Amino acid sequence: MNRIIVQGGKRLHGQIRVQGAKNEVLKVIAASIFFDEKIQITNVPEIADIFHLLEIIEDLGGQWVHKKEHVYAVETKNLKKTNLSKSLTSKLRAAIVLLGPLLARFGKASLPHPGGCAIGRRPIDIFIKGLQAMGTRVRYANETYYFQTAQLRSVKFVFPIISVTATETLLLAACLTPGQTVLINAAQEPEISALAAWLNSCGAKIKGAGTSKIIIEGVKKLKAKDVEIIPDRIEAGSFVILAAATQSYLKITHCQPEHLSVFLEILKEMGLPMKIGQNWIEVFPAGRLRAHHIVTHEYPGLATDLQPPMTVLLTQCQGQSLVRETIYEGRLFYVDMLNRMAANILMCDPSRILVTGPTPLRAKPLESPDLRAGIAMVIAALVARGTSEIANAYQIERGYENIINRLKKIGAHVKAG
Ligand code: EPU
Repeated sequence: MNRIIVQGGKRLHGQIRVQGAKNEVLKVIAASIFFDEKIQITNVPEIADIFHLLEIIEDLGGQWVHKKEHVYAVETKNLKKTNLSKSLTSKLRAAIVLLGPLLARFGKASLPHPGGCAIGRRPIDIFIKGLQAMGTRVRYANETYYFQTAQLRSVKFVFPIISVTATETLLLAACLTPGQTVLINAAQEPEISALAAWLNSCGAKIKGAGTSKIIIEGVKKLKAKDVEIIPDRIEAGSFVILAAATQSYLKITHCQPEHLSVFLEILKEMGLPMKIGQNWIEVFPAGRLRAHHIVTHEYPGLATDLQPPMTVLLTQCQGQSLVRETIYEGRLFYVDMLNRMAANILMCDPSRILVTGPTPLRAKPLESPDLRAGIAMVIAALVARGTSEIANAYQIERGYENIINRLKKIGAHVKAG
């Protein structure tokens, strides 16, 4: 899909189901490399990022089957290659997580600098330091990183800053490494806890996932167990914002509100009427919401991935909101497009913006610079009166399954262009 054409200015109504978490399933697919047996994964979101990773698995010699809607089986018994191709790795930063299982199984792996959303420099120095500490030699030549180890060794590693995929990579590398590996200042995202819980069901010995200290006792072998992916908290949060920004009633189902505590608390303080159940969130049309300062933070703080849609909502709120992006240095540049739509956003510096609202938004030609700014543009276009065309829509398909049809079902006037 090249473009999404959105006719905005209408209220939405209905139920929308949240898909499985992209950022868990990517790591589960990477971990399939541990097993001789097939693994069956259910609640898999059918999105471009997942297909890219499956393509990489296939390129390495693995196989996968689409069994039925949202159910996939992956088998890597015959996997032979350990070098990730440039063309595939450039599409997906998460490909780097393959390093953990590849080093554990083959003692070597190589990859070019991984791609992904253009939201900052996104270096891989922490992966390199961590894997070096675990006894891996790392060489860089011909724009490729080469990793090699005779035997990974257990380690106590302190992350200098919190990194989600670096935590997952070292956690995976440690599962079959003899001895006790301790990860300090680890990321605490629910997708990491879910990954660890599944690996434990397969025989791994991981304690403390979901806290900042993770302890992994290496085991000799893992035995494959089926896995069900947890709901995507970023998708759920995006739909809550969609309802709030368009003054709509939406029931967001199959989600886990407890993974969105800080986000939901902020929305309550802004005055958004909601009912929250065990696995659903109902959002009711509000009067004018209040402005609110927001700061992105590692989990359990406000997710950086929700910052672009939150900014769109803040353009519709009464008063001034300061937005501070603390995770990525390049994740605020999409605000130029919101200003083109007649928002009033001042960029104080690359990590802070001041949003003054409310401002009616005007339809404009837009583009999706990355996945989360892309969904923010869809929400802005649904708020704005008139017809907006959003270019680079493939960015949105990387993380939101079948977004046009799902939005149509709740009354949005959207189509592929
Ligand atoms: N960083 C370094 N060196 C490293 C690794 C990270 O400086 O070696 C920096 C990054 O540049 C960034 C910060 O550390 O400034 C945190 O990045 P992190 O490594 O945690 O991000 P990530 O693991 O690459 C995952 C998600 C992102 C999400 C971030 C933060 C996956 C596949 N991706 O990325 O999701 O934004 O954590 O929560 O799990 C998305 O879904 O749209 C997305 C970008």
